[in-house]
Amino acid sequence: MAQIQMFSNDRIMELPRSVSSVEILPAADVLDTLRSTREVSAVILDPWYNKGVGGSRPDYHEWLADVIDAACKISQHVFVWGFPEIVAYQIPQLPEGVGLVSWLTWYYKNCPSVIRGWRSAQNTCLHLAREGATVYPEHFLNEEQLARWESGKMRFVPGPPSVIEAPLNVGFVRRNEQTGHPAQKPLAVIKPLILMSTEESDTVLDPMCGSGTTGEACLHLNRNAILCDNSDEYLSISENRIADYVRKQNGG
Ligand SMILES: C[S@@+](CC[C@H](N)C(=O)[O-])C[C@H]1O[C@@H](n2cnc3c(N)ncnc32)[C@H](O)[C@@H]1O
Repeated sequence: MAQIQMFSNDRIMELPRSVSSVEILPAADVLDTLRSTREVSAVILDPWYNKGVGGSRPDYHEWLADVIDAACKISQHVFVWGFPEIVAYQIPQLPEGVGLVSWLTWYYKNCPSVIRGWRSAQNTCLHLAREGATVYPEHFLNEEQLARWESGKMRFVPGPPSVIEAPLNVGFVRRNEQTGHPAQKPLAVIKPLILMSTEESDTVLDPMCGSGTTGEACLHLNRNAILCDNSDEYLSISENRIADYVRKQNGG
């Protein structure tokens, strides 16, 4: 039987039929985590957005550029979440040898906003990659398509759309998934990033993991995850979430 390991508490739990592990590091700043972690297959960067929850900082664009640079040094694929008008600043200053694979949009209609004017209904995720990085659109094929592709009968692999439509986890929407973290992403928007950029048993790093969505998504997809955040409170949420998932998988 394979193991799932949570290193933060010296807890080791058994997860049947899985080879995945989730490593939760002690609280640390994102730059420290990125500069001290080994090479991984993908990094997911989901910082505060420089408006709304988390507040704003005057050096946000420079700070995010440093974070992206550090992430690109340890990974072929880097995903950067944010509002379009904020992450757009990063595109002209990407690290050398790194390109924009795709501007992904998460489209949600259920944002409960009282802001006068346009109501927010989208988030951006920049898919960045080093030259020559492999992408895996075949991971989105159903069984019948996969069989046709493997037998050479498919001329090209139809990729998934670059707009992901999924409601925000608010109110009664996906109540079971909600953890209380104020900016939790749905699993439905993190899983496609992992599928496109990794194979089973690969490792994904999320150094600003919040509620641990990347960790749970990796377990669903048989990938390994390394999680960190600078908040002990949010790391506890992640830890409890992963432990609950493992317990349920074990029939508990
Ligand atoms: C948008 S939330 C991430 C939400 C997460 N993707 C989820 O689904 O729960 C941003 C997270 O970044 C963390 N964070 C902000 N600044 C950080 C820093 N300098 N170093 C590490 N973590 C940071 C916050 O504590 C917060 O949990």
